[in-house]
Amino acid sequence: MKVLGIETSCDETGVAVYDTDAGLRAHALYSQIDLHAEYGGVVPELASRDHVRKLLPLIRQTLAEAGLEVGELDGVAYTAGPGLVGALLVGAGVARALAWALEVPAIGVHHMEGHLLAPLLEDDPAGRPQPPFVALLVSGGHTQLIHVEAIGRYRLLGETLDDAAGEAFDKTAKLMGLPYPGGPQLAALAEQGRAGVFRFARPMTDRPGLDFSFSGLKTQVLLAWQGSDQSDETRADIARGFEDAVVDTLAIKCARALDAAGGDTPACDTLVVAGGVGANKRLRAKLQAMAEQRGGRVGFPRPAFCTDNGAMIAFAGALRLQAGQHDDASVRVTPRWDM
Ligand code: KG4
Ligand code: ZN
Repeated sequence: MKVLGIETSCDETGVAVYDTDAGLRAHALYSQIDLHAEYGGVVPELASRDHVRKLLPLIRQTLAEAGLEVGELDGVAYTAGPGLVGALLVGAGVARALAWALEVPAIGVHHMEGHLLAPLLEDDPAGRPQPPFVALLVSGGHTQLIHVEAIGRYRLLGETLDDAAGEAFDKTAKLMGLPYPGGPQLAALAEQGRAGVFRFARPMTDRPGLDFSFSGLKTQVLLAWQGSDQSDETRADIARGFEDAVVDTLAIKCARALDAAGGDTPACDTLVVAGGVGANKRLRAKLQAMAEQRGGRVGFPRPAFCTDNGAMIAFAGALRLQAGQHDDASVRVTPRWDM
């Protein structure tokens, strides 16, 4: 089955073709970062308009790279939520129209299920984690620990009570004057910073449970920054202190989740990390070391599939279509949607 995947939930237009026999055939991404940079964040209306401009050319490009005619598609998958409503509607409208014209099924995919399954897209089958596993979803909008009993059977173990990890990176970057999108820039700056010069709390690690809270950390950074000499060197040291605090906190909770600290969930030896913050080098190294120490393993998507992309949507959609699921013909999106 050859499935076209369309991702338009936020500020990236992603398109891919996943073939249930041959694997990922092609994928293409257009990022709107430059468009939103001058506003310091994503402007929803501009995002929708740019998806309108870019989606059809990207679909043509992806099909050409896959060596396919549009009529050879067997299904269309699109991100149905969560996300920006206007942006989602662009992808959903195009996907639905295409599926209707081709007389093939279409399916709306949960964006976070896409992220969650992205590590299973790896080319080497031995490198693909198999359920059951614990998944850490860390993006700009979500920080969740999920027990994946099987594909399609997910149980929430814990989540952030306020800011998501990526949001904390972005907001912290902004308050120290870094341009949008701040998260990756803050991480790059932390590479130059010294460990231990600034030490911030590891929120909510001193009590049992698997929930997170990152908004207080941002305030701690603000106070440290305002009380400092605000030099480039200090900025890098604070970035390092902040990154270490987030990474440690995530690692502590992941270890707890694997230990079955989530209650009635059995202990697990496999951790899967997904979402934009999964591209963070220090987080990857820390979780790798933690997993090795426990005799377990950790799976990451390749960095390009940590952040938003069409491949994860094509893949998640293909699994569901293959299982016989599809949606009715209405164009429906769900901006807020629990998985
Ligand atoms: O999954 P994603 O592309 O979009 C959402 O669905 O939110 O994640 C984007 C988030 C942003 O908050 C961005 O700052 C963060 O991931 N991010 C990073 C890094 N790369 C992206 N955060 C820390 N370190 C990175 N290297
Ligand atoms: Zn995402």
